[in-house]
Amino acid sequence: MTAPLIDPFARPITYLRVSVTDRCDFRCVYCMSENITFLPKKDLLTLEELDQLCSAFIGLGVAKLRVTGGEPLVRRGIMTFFRGMSRHLDSGALKELTLTTNGSQLHRFADDLYAAGVRRVNISLDTLDEDKFARVTRWGRLKQVLNGIDAAQRAGLRIKINTVALKGFNEEELPRITEWCAERDMDLTWIEVMPMGEDIGSEDRLGQFWPLTDVRATYERSYTVTDLAERTGGPARYVRLEETGQKIGFITPLSHNFCESCNRVRLTCTGELYMCLGQEDVADLRKPMRDRPGDASHLEQAIRAAIARKPKGHDFDYSRQRADGQMTRHMSHTGG
Ligand code: GTP
Ligand code: 5AD
Ligand code: SF4
Repeated sequence: MTAPLIDPFARPITYLRVSVTDRCDFRCVYCMSENITFLPKKDLLTLEELDQLCSAFIGLGVAKLRVTGGEPLVRRGIMTFFRGMSRHLDSGALKELTLTTNGSQLHRFADDLYAAGVRRVNISLDTLDEDKFARVTRWGRLKQVLNGIDAAQRAGLRIKINTVALKGFNEEELPRITEWCAERDMDLTWIEVMPMGEDIGSEDRLGQFWPLTDVRATYERSYTVTDLAERTGGPARYVRLEETGQKIGFITPLSHNFCESCNRVRLTCTGELYMCLGQEDVADLRKPMRDRPGDASHLEQAIRAAIARKPKGHDFDYSRQRADGQMTRHMSHTGG
């Protein structure tokens, strides 16, 4: 029996987030610049390598795998990867296989994802207005995402909508988005934006910080809001709207709110392992994997050595956030 992955602070590592590509078919203003340069394709892990690495983690006790990007569904052949991972669901080693997506390709892949054992997806959607959607994503078409959401629901996938709170952009849409999610029985989580820097902010003023304390206050004007004690092992805190029974999540991407019980690490599309969202330390897993192909124990050692470096918590000091809402760190450094 292989010993599970336990970090130096006695936290079992059971959740892996894997980015399968840095590419995306959108250019959300808070996430990417319009003319971003992506990595050369040759630098990416192959699908076989992604499988090998994720399987190694699962062999060491990872029970939840979240596939992210960029946009994971634009990676060519990605369904081969999902189908490969489903063998770990079948064996019982993996309890949940899931993804975070912008929804643009869901109309093509929803059924295949369900067939591969995916049961829940997180979909990013910041507005229900077509023009505003085109502005915030620069390249996206709302209709396509809504079709994707319909396809996902028809396929039987449970959906959580992630909405980035943007002052002066989707503030007045809060009731509509909330009701729209309730009608479709979808969970809703608001994410506090980390402004990506002056260029984007001054370009169209979309990158405006709307603190989630204000989002909550907006709910309180129309609903009875009750705090829920439950934490689902993730970064969100939840409230219930008593009038609708709806559960709403709030995520402040870098706030120091669950480091004590952190169970996760992140693998990039080039095979680097980030031990913490808010720390720069990375471990290269591609090299040990390529140096000794097929040597599972060599890779296992490299993974264990990386986990032994997992820090107690991130060093980001939330109080460093400036009064105007600009933060000193950027999402682009730490990934989603
Ligand atoms: P679960 O995987 O079920 O916990 O969902 P999630 O909400 O973490 O996943 P999702 O990919 O939808 O991420 C939504 C937001 O949560 C993103 O903005 C992430 O940056 C943020 N987030 C994800 N992981 C972490 C983390 O480890 N710490 C913090 N503070 N935020 C995170
Ligand atoms: N601030 C907050 N959330 C962000 N996301 C991407 N960039 C940022 C940012 N700068 C969100 C996406 C997606 C999630 C994975 O991360 O909207 O829902
Ligand atoms: Fe693409 Fe998501 Fe970034 Fe938008 S936030 S550009 S959908 S990766």
